Amino acid sequence: MNFRKRNIIISGSSAGIGKASAELFLRNGGNVVINGASETGKEVAEELDRKYEGRALFVQADLSTLEGCRKLFDTAIKELGQIDVLVNCAGIVPEGTILDFDEEDYDKAFDINVKSAFFLSKLCAEHMVENGKGTIVNVGSVAGLIGPRNRALYAATKGAIISLSRAMASDLADKNVRVNCVCPGMTDSPSLEKRIQGSEDPIKTRKQFENGIPIHRIGKAEEIAQCICFAASEENGFMTGSVITVDGGTSL
Ligand SMILES: NC(=O)c1ccc[n+]([C@@H]2O[C@H](COP(=O)([O-])OP(=O)(O)OC[C@H]3O[C@@H](n4cnc5c(N)ncnc54)[C@H](O)[C@@H]3O)[C@@H](O)[C@H]2O)c1
Repeated sequence: MNFRKRNIIISGSSAGIGKASAELFLRNGGNVVINGASETGKEVAEELDRKYEGRALFVQADLSTLEGCRKLFDTAIKELGQIDVLVNCAGIVPEGTILDFDEEDYDKAFDINVKSAFFLSKLCAEHMVENGKGTIVNVGSVAGLIGPRNRALYAATKGAIISLSRAMASDLADKNVRVNCVCPGMTDSPSLEKRIQGSEDPIKTRKQFENGIPIHRIGKAEEIAQCICFAASEENGFMTGSVITVDGGTSL
C-alpha cells in the first residue's frame, strides 16, 4: 500500500482503531489529520509527527455538530490543500436494550456515530468530486449486521452507517469516489479496556468476551487498521460499496 503524497483525515483517531490507522497510513507514506473530541490527541499527533516522514497534525473538534465537522475539514484543507482519503472512525458504544434509552441518549448516539460521518462525508465528497477522485472508509461494526444483545441503540447507528456507505458508493461510483465500510468485531481499545476494567471481575469478563468470538481472542486495533488502509488504497481501486467484516468470525 502506497499513500505517498496522499492526505488522509481520520475522525476519532486520538485512540484505538483510529490511532492505529493513522500510524499505518503514516508508515505507508501518507500525511494524516488526527481528530478527537478532547485535546488528548495532540500528544499522539506530535509523537507520530516526529516518528514518520509524513505530517501528522491534530484538530480537536466535537463532530456531533456540523460546526465541528466544518472545523476539521476546513483546517485539513488549509494545512494540506487536498484531501484524498476520509476515514469516519469517531464513535461511542452505548450499552443497553431499547427499554433503557431516552431521547437524549438516542440523539447523542446518532449525533456522534451517524451525523458526524454523514456531514464529514458530505464536505469531503464535494471536494473529492471536484478533484475527480477520492475514497471514503466508514467504520461500522459487526453490531450493525447481527442482532447483538444489549446494544440496541449502538446497532441502530451502525446499521445506518452500513446503509449510508452503500448508498454513497452508488451515488459516487461514476465520479471516481469509492466508499467502503469496515465492520470490526470486538477490538482492543481504550474504551473496551474501560468496559472490562469496570466489570465486577475483569479477568473473567475478558475470558467471556474471548470465548464468545469463534477465533477465541479479541482483535487488535492494528488488524482493523490493515483493513481500513487496504480499503482506502489505490491498489484496491475496484472495490466500492463493500461491507467488510474483520471480526474473528463473530458474524458467522
Ligand atoms: N473497539 C471495538 O471493539 C469496536 C468494535 C466495532 C466497531 N468499533 C468502532 O470503531 C470506532 C473506533 O472505536 P474504538 O474502540 O477504537 O474507539 P475509542 O473509544 O478507543 O476511541 C474513539 C475515538 O472517537 C473519538 N470521539 C468520540 N466522540 C467524539 C466526538 N463527539 N467528536 C469527535 N471525536 C469523538 C474519541 O476522541 C476517540 O478518538 C468506533 O466507531 C466504534 O464504534 C469499535
